[in-house]
Amino acid sequence: MPGQCVIGLQWGDEAKGKLVDILTEGKDLVVRYQGGANAGHTVVIGDEVYKLHHIPSGIINSGVLNLITPGVVINPPTILEEIESLLPRGIDVFKRMKLSQRAHVVMPWHTLEDRMWNQLVSGEDNIGTTLRGIGPCYADKVGRSFAIRLGDLIQPSFPDRVREIVRVKTKILAAASGGEAETLDAEKIITEYTDYGERLRPMIDDTTRILLDAVDADKNILFEGAQGSLLDIDHGTFPFVTSSNASGTGISTGSGVPGNWIKTIIGVCKTYATRVGGGPFPTELNNETGQHIRDLGNEYGTTTGRPRRCGWFDAVAVRYTARLSGITSFTLTMLDVLCELDEIEVCVAYDLDGKEIDYFPGNIDELKRVKPIYKKFPGWKQDVTGARSLDDLPTAAIEYAHELEKLIGRPIEFISVGPDRAQTIHVEEGTTLKDYLKGRS
Ligand code: GDP
Ligand code: IMO
Ligand code: MG
Repeated sequence: MPGQCVIGLQWGDEAKGKLVDILTEGKDLVVRYQGGANAGHTVVIGDEVYKLHHIPSGIINSGVLNLITPGVVINPPTILEEIESLLPRGIDVFKRMKLSQRAHVVMPWHTLEDRMWNQLVSGEDNIGTTLRGIGPCYADKVGRSFAIRLGDLIQPSFPDRVREIVRVKTKILAAASGGEAETLDAEKIITEYTDYGERLRPMIDDTTRILLDAVDADKNILFEGAQGSLLDIDHGTFPFVTSSNASGTGISTGSGVPGNWIKTIIGVCKTYATRVGGGPFPTELNNETGQHIRDLGNEYGTTTGRPRRCGWFDAVAVRYTARLSGITSFTLTMLDVLCELDEIEVCVAYDLDGKEIDYFPGNIDELKRVKPIYKKFPGWKQDVTGARSLDDLPTAAIEYAHELEKLIGRPIEFISVGPDRAQTIHVEEGTTLKDYLKGRS
């Protein structure tokens, strides 16, 4: 069974969690392979709402093993809190999840550094991170000398390692803050993190081996991307990105599965665009329409509660990420959110310094200068939250979805019309929106 993967095509929060939950049915393993507690994935099943940051969205299904692999950075108190919030809801996370011994640990100095770097960089240059210590932890992973991996927490060398790192970090933090940084208490950290290590011990394992064995045994595996392709450290809107490979490029490196084994990648994007934090956003709407989308789409961060910046769908950006992530089909979410608009705009090209371009600029200053060129589409002015098949959707809504297919160059597989698991339309294999529309007219 070749692996299947869910990837965000925009700047995160595309409703990946919802899709992963749906696709978990029939899977043996669900794998989170990059990012950390900066993610916030929501699964809604009737009255039950799950907000998952660390834990894969496959956790709700009792027959599935969830893996957190080496590419993820783990914050022990945060993951333990999440585990403990799921136990009383009947989800025995200890039985359903394994954590890689190779995954790096977000330590208290990383969260301090994240806060400090955010304070030191002001205005337009501020990345506006989630303050979860993600960047500093990945920086130490790449730097190697001051990194701690999950398996290290339960080794006898752990206390000395912490003492040594705290000695160095104290100097760095004091220099950067002019002596005003919070002090790090090595002995307290050792006691706390040794305890976390013991509590997590039953789940710490070699997930690379588990995954490779599963590949050999032809198991059904689903990979859950976090963030979105435009936040990818190498291919996104650098430096306004996260610190991992959030596009399809990260599946293999983050999990350990051979790259040529992933055959199906489903990209997820909204009918409009959102972004949290700093950075250029060509189609941003700082007006009533932007606020309308925010209100109707409840566009407030799952992790930080920050209002998300909202704008029109950017087909130049999504065409880029669809190709970058190698998607085989895509899922269009939030169709319901545009239901009251008379007209909907989509960015189909950019104007860069007076010249029309159809590609996504790799340079951030150029991206800041582009002006979107829009195409207008009629709205459908109809509540679609009750739709369960294409037959229930207004023609204008399907036409809009089909236009996005053409612009992106990939077929739509699912359309989401509300947060609930049930509010999903599956475009059956063999059906195309083009043929469906022909049949309707
Ligand atoms: P993720 O990070 O990609 O998993 O997405 P988030 O969970 O951060 O954000 C998506 C939000 O939209 C969540 O609150 C979902 O419950 C909600 N949602 C998912 N699909 C739809 C949809 O089709 N329509 C509406 N209105 N909300 C949706
Ligand atoms: P999910 O998985 C949306 C954004 C932050 C910030 C930038 C860097 O829920 O889609 P970081 O803390 O990672 O160093 O922040 O990335 N960001 C997200 N935006 N959804 C996410 O995850 C995000 N994870 C990080 O807002 O702009
Ligand atoms: Mg989210």
